[in-house]
Amino acid sequence: MLGGRRLVALEDVSFSVERGEFLGVVGRSGSGKSSLLRCVYRRYLPTAGSIVYSSDDGEIDLSTAPDRGVLRLRGGEIGYVSQFLRAIPRTPARDVVAEPLISRGADGDEARERAAAMLDALGIPDGMADAFPATMSGGEQQRVNLARALVGAPRLLLLDEPTSALDPETRLLAMEAIKGLKNGGTTMVGIFHEMESLETLSDRVLALEAGRVRWTGPAREAAGLLAGV
Ligand SMILES: Nc1ncnc2c1ncn2[C@@H]1O[C@H](COP(=O)(O)OP(=O)(O)OP(=O)(O)O)[C@@H](O)[C@H]1O
Ligand SMILES: [Mg+2]
Repeated sequence: MLGGRRLVALEDVSFSVERGEFLGVVGRSGSGKSSLLRCVYRRYLPTAGSIVYSSDDGEIDLSTAPDRGVLRLRGGEIGYVSQFLRAIPRTPARDVVAEPLISRGADGDEARERAAAMLDALGIPDGMADAFPATMSGGEQQRVNLARALVGAPRLLLLDEPTSALDPETRLLAMEAIKGLKNGGTTMVGIFHEMESLETLSDRVLALEAGRVRWTGPAREAAGLLAGV
């Protein structure tokens, strides 16, 4: 609701993602892509419908599950890379990335080592990992954000334009890191504006238009159909 007016961000959207699959999401700015991921991550509560997630403990409807259950899933099983980094003040990048591991009980030194290795893989070398993300460039911040989600190897990873601020070379590093996690079995839903990442990473594509599904099909058929999206 906005100023008493009801705005519909998504309507009649239905799709499924198989275990280990990468579903790419495309659509014009404002078509509802981020809202879709926010519903899955339970940032938004849909007014109707269900979002069924198969966890290790059985099926859970994310639209009705108690907060406690959702928080537990976010702690380990479901990762989310938001479109924009909310920089944590006065925390070095390495600690920002290690934090989710530590809060899950990992040893601090080991977690920081894994964090540094992930940052390095994304082109943020050791020296820079000591810096505060708030002082970093947009593309560096984006990679810190991505590293934080990748390092925990969640079962389901939601990526909201994780490579949008990166130059082609750095984007390749990010795609390699994402592919590495996918090869390890992580299921992913990722939003991309740019066709190369979409085609390289996705198995299937879901195209949104004005909050509805416009098209869904194999990634290799997406480019021709989606020219101009
Ligand atoms: N919390 C909210 N309150 C009001 N309107 C919202 C809210 N969240 C999303 N919307 C509206 O829903 C529509 C879809 O927004 P969304 O962020 O999902 O778009 P998007 O496809 O991710 O766009 P972009 O490519 O620019 O990131 C927009 O018109 C937006 O203003
Ligand atoms: Mg968005």
